[in-house]
Amino acid sequence: MKEIEITSHLVVYDGIEELPEAARELMQKAVEARKKAYAPYSKFKVGAALLLNNGEVVIGSNQENASYPSGLCAERVAVFQAGARFPDAEIELLAISAASDRRTVLTPVPPCGACRQSLSEYEVKQKSPLQLYFMGETGKVVKAPSVGDLLPLVFDKESL
Ligand code: THU
Repeated sequence: MKEIEITSHLVVYDGIEELPEAARELMQKAVEARKKAYAPYSKFKVGAALLLNNGEVVIGSNQENASYPSGLCAERVAVFQAGARFPDAEIELLAISAASDRRTVLTPVPPCGACRQSLSEYEVKQKSPLQLYFMGETGKVVKAPSVGDLLPLVFDKESL
């Protein structure tokens, strides 16, 4: 028997102004994307922006549906769009911002489990880290150096 400890190295910034320039610019695009979210049911609006290694920025926002499970999170809208439009490009950075029409979201909002799994597919495929920055509407921003830091023990192609 042996025990294994899993650690993740996250960085917490006090605000968007502290981010490295590329991440700050990308976060501003996530904020803009968030404002266009279609979230009439939850009133919880999420924006995601991906920076690819070909310089392209691909954005996504959550798209809800009267049949609730038929909606999709911002992160998957963005990453599937990137996969469809630029199948050979690598994803370098992902910025995420979330806000609610009901309250001010002050704590950083990480991607949900299903989005972590979807993002992980592309990180495994490209064999290089996909760095994430996530925040609420305002306030602290968290950096995760890779999807693996948010989803250890991932189920991937090696698991099949
Ligand atoms: N949502 C996202 O867009 N990303 C996440 O990672 C978590 C949740 C959306 C889905 C739904 O439209 C709303 O937020 C409330 O769950």
